[in-house]
Amino acid sequence: MVEATVDELFQIFPPRPDLDSCRTCSVVGNSVNLRKSNYGPLIDSQDVVIRMNYAQIKGYESDVGTKTTHRVMYPESATDLDNSTHLVLFPFKIQDVEWLIQAFTTGFNGTSYTKVKSKIKANKDLVMVVNPAFMMYVHEVWLENKGNYPSTGFMGLVLALHICKEVHVFGYGADSDGNWSHYWEKLSNKNFKTGFHAGQQELVFL
Ligand code: C5P
Repeated sequence: MVEATVDELFQIFPPRPDLDSCRTCSVVGNSVNLRKSNYGPLIDSQDVVIRMNYAQIKGYESDVGTKTTHRVMYPESATDLDNSTHLVLFPFKIQDVEWLIQAFTTGFNGTSYTKVKSKIKANKDLVMVVNPAFMMYVHEVWLENKGNYPSTGFMGLVLALHICKEVHVFGYGADSDGNWSHYWEKLSNKNFKTGFHAGQQELVFL
């Protein structure tokens, strides 16, 4: 069953991603500390720009830039992409892989802990699916199994360190109350802190 799904996955999407194009890269987290940073031009000047989940651009260009070559996501945080952006999926469970296949074909009708997009607009030839073993490796080796699982941002960072020669990091870090708030919105849950993630442990590497 799992094998059939994985076989189908690689019939639709490239079995081997292009990992040669990254000389320098910007990994852009969603931290509120990007506000008024004026990092936009520096972020955009790298070959590869990796953003994550719901990262907003419109209205924040001078602080976060405009270029996105890769966007990492999971089904519950999926957003439509333009034709030149790589969709990088971090699957946690087999349903995530099924979602990817169905979101590009029949439409996904399953349920999850929150609403999930039925269809996604993105270039299927630029899809990259990260092996779930990579998440286990990051959790065990980098985070010493602290936190429930690595944050999207930390996974994105370690992925960048594996595929790019030079990695520039922007937009990581909690606000003054210790919450992971976003640069584009006011935090609604003041007790969010770093969610299920080992924020302190992740910070050691930043
Ligand atoms: O909130 P979201 O998961 O979309 O943010 C992407 C990543 O950016 C997080 O997983 C986290 O690693 C990082 N982040 C951060 N500090 C914040 C907000 C996000 O380090 N204030």
